[in-house]
Amino acid sequence: MSSNSFGKLFTVTTFGESHGPAIGCVIDGCPPGIAIAPQDFAHDLSRRATGKSRFTSQRHEADEVEILSGVYENKTTGTPIALLIRNTDARSKDYDELLDTFRPGHADYTYWQKYGIRDPRGGGRASARETTMRVAAAVIAKKWLREKFGVQVRGYLAQIGDVMPDLSKGAVIDFDIVESNAFFWPVAAQVPRLEKYIDALRKDGDSVGARVDVVASNVPPGWGEPVYGKLDAELASALMSINAVKGVEIGAGFASVSQRGSEHRDELRSDGFASNHAGGILGGITSGQDVLASIALKPTSSILKPGRSVNLAGEQVEVRSKGRHDPCVGIRAVPIAEAMVALVLIDQALRHRAQCGDVGEVKPRIA
Ligand SMILES: Cc1cc2nc3c(=O)[nH]c(=O)nc-3n(C[C@H](O)[C@H](O)[C@H](O)COP(=O)(O)O)c2cc1C
Repeated sequence: MSSNSFGKLFTVTTFGESHGPAIGCVIDGCPPGIAIAPQDFAHDLSRRATGKSRFTSQRHEADEVEILSGVYENKTTGTPIALLIRNTDARSKDYDELLDTFRPGHADYTYWQKYGIRDPRGGGRASARETTMRVAAAVIAKKWLREKFGVQVRGYLAQIGDVMPDLSKGAVIDFDIVESNAFFWPVAAQVPRLEKYIDALRKDGDSVGARVDVVASNVPPGWGEPVYGKLDAELASALMSINAVKGVEIGAGFASVSQRGSEHRDELRSDGFASNHAGGILGGITSGQDVLASIALKPTSSILKPGRSVNLAGEQVEVRSKGRHDPCVGIRAVPIAEAMVALVLIDQALRHRAQCGDVGEVKPRIA
């Protein structure tokens, strides 16, 4: 049970390290007949990629996907799909000084305690480089979800440090604006302020946390399983598996604590639900409303500001990170969070089809 695989029917196994020759994944259980070509991966991979703006890490990876199996004449065949991306810009030298040091906030110490051996170059397997393959696998998932059901899974940055989008409560997110700036921020007028904010952080040698919101729209009712396969439970697990995530909320999330039942319970009306505090999920099963999930990401641990740690000999040392790091890891987490939501949804959709495919549309269906 080494847990590098994910999903029950649409199963993704990733492999590779940050500074190894390549990273990759094997997708098993993918429906046949989905049109897919190497260029289909470019858009989402470039949204996740480093080096696209001065506000993220300056590692420049080409992120070119090689399809090794499971696709014939640009169509999935139903057999395992193997995808490979070669690492072309790993600079292991940046980590030479830290080879025998456990960097604070990283998985160095815990991997060492678990395995008694580790690949320290760029964080090895614990690096967010691994999430590239989740995004690649989700390109196929998103395509199937969109073409079969019109489901769209889209995310945006909903908070960075203490800055929140200037939006009124319940405002509709304009995803054209989100995609038009380096921060995946929904309010264009605030972007110059964010640029200044991140530039100042970098100058200060520090970092900051963030919140990412994901919306899955047009999800049909009925996806998700009682009791241990609840959709919200699987979303929480999938989103929590992203590097640096320290919290997950579904719908109103922790704000539910101070709500009253009369406010929270999303009354049913014949023309639609009155609100969506449940985040589109009741009893672990979709209601047909948008599925809403949020994640909290911690501030980047590798910063220029010196910090204390210990080395392999157990001696107290000072750590000062060199290398190319994201001042706010939450920015690039947007496509990763979308990917995990899409992977959970395709898996649940296939499971729903397997068990309840004969049930069909049940009346009444609330718009
Ligand atoms: C998109 C993304 C990029 C990241 N880049 C960095 C980085 O440049 N420097 C860093 O210290 N941590 C970075 N992280 C976070 C680390 O991978 C993570 O904190 C570390 O592996 C320990 O795991 P944990 O925080 O999940 O416990 C990144 C995370 C994400 C999601």
